[in-house]
Amino acid sequence: MKKFLTMMALALGSTSFTALHAAELKPNAEAAKDKVAMCIGCHGIPDYRTAFPEVYHVPRIGGQNAKYIENALKEYAKGDRKFQTMHGIAATLTEQDIVDIAAYYAAQTSSTPVNPQK
Ligand code: HEC
Repeated sequence: MKKFLTMMALALGSTSFTALHAAELKPNAEAAKDKVAMCIGCHGIPDYRTAFPEVYHVPRIGGQNAKYIENALKEYAKGDRKFQTMHGIAATLTEQDIVDIAAYYAAQTSSTPVNPQK
């Protein structure tokens, strides 16, 4: 009986997992084109370094794994990953923006033009 109950619990558990999964946000890389305008200024410039408030490298995010980008943005937004500028930016993004932007950058290759508007 105990075994049966465990199996039932597992079965129920996996059903609700599937339901949760279906409700997940669908990435829309097309929609991200309007959302990345503010990222391009920093992330679009090859070998870019900002000079203020101190000199630091801006990482290249084009071609990065979508899940990695998603997680990084959520961590900046929550403040788990500390970086003032990225926190300010990530905190303005909705969950949908984040998955769209992640899909958009993940689809890039080294030959993708930096600015989609051009
Ligand atoms: C003012 C410049 C600036 C702007 C604008 C900016 N970023 Fe960043 N971003 C940075 C810097 C600098 C870092 C590295 C911070 C660190 O060391 O954690 C970073 C880090 C990241 C990372 C983590 C990269 C890694 O390799 O771990 C992601 C993802 C990211 N930015 C996405 C974005 C997105 C998406 C936008 C637009 C919505 C954006 N950034 C706008 C400067 C900027």
